[in-house]
Amino acid sequence: MSIEWSKSLATGLEWQDNQHKELFKRISALIDAMNVGLGREEVGRIFRFLDEYFVVHFSAEDEAMMKYNFPGGAFHMAEHRRFQQDVEQIRDECRGNNITTSTVIKVQRLVVDWLINHIGGIDKALGEYILRIENKGAEPVRPEDPAQVRTDSTKTLS
Ligand SMILES: [Fe+2]
Ligand SMILES: [Fe+2]
Repeated sequence: MSIEWSKSLATGLEWQDNQHKELFKRISALIDAMNVGLGREEVGRIFRFLDEYFVVHFSAEDEAMMKYNFPGGAFHMAEHRRFQQDVEQIRDECRGNNITTSTVIKVQRLVVDWLINHIGGIDKALGEYILRIENKGAEPVRPEDPAQVRTDSTKTLS
């Protein structure tokens, strides 16, 4: 299974896209290492990198959400924690045992469920939200604030 970052996952926010690309690269290397039966040492090395990189990446997104008061930030942050726990669980499995086919399948499922759905979903929403603020220098319309949406559409109609 080859996994690659694609343009359809671009959020448009440079730092966020670059970090996502790096995550894809490393997770792809992890899956390859597992598939070709590389030693636990190699797999452990990639996991160590991922542990550190997830901290860097999730902290960057969490801080941006707090800074810009991103709607749904609490849910998004909770998803990050859940992802980290999933990764930790798989890493522990790899540490204690030889890597089985079921472990490889779990990593692949994690990639699809988490990276593609998370990045293609709420990360994209976050990136677009921040870009709107940075480009316009104004608070964007917040989806959960119907009063503001109504005000804006009234302005457009008049
Ligand atoms: Fe992300
Ligand atoms: Fe995220």
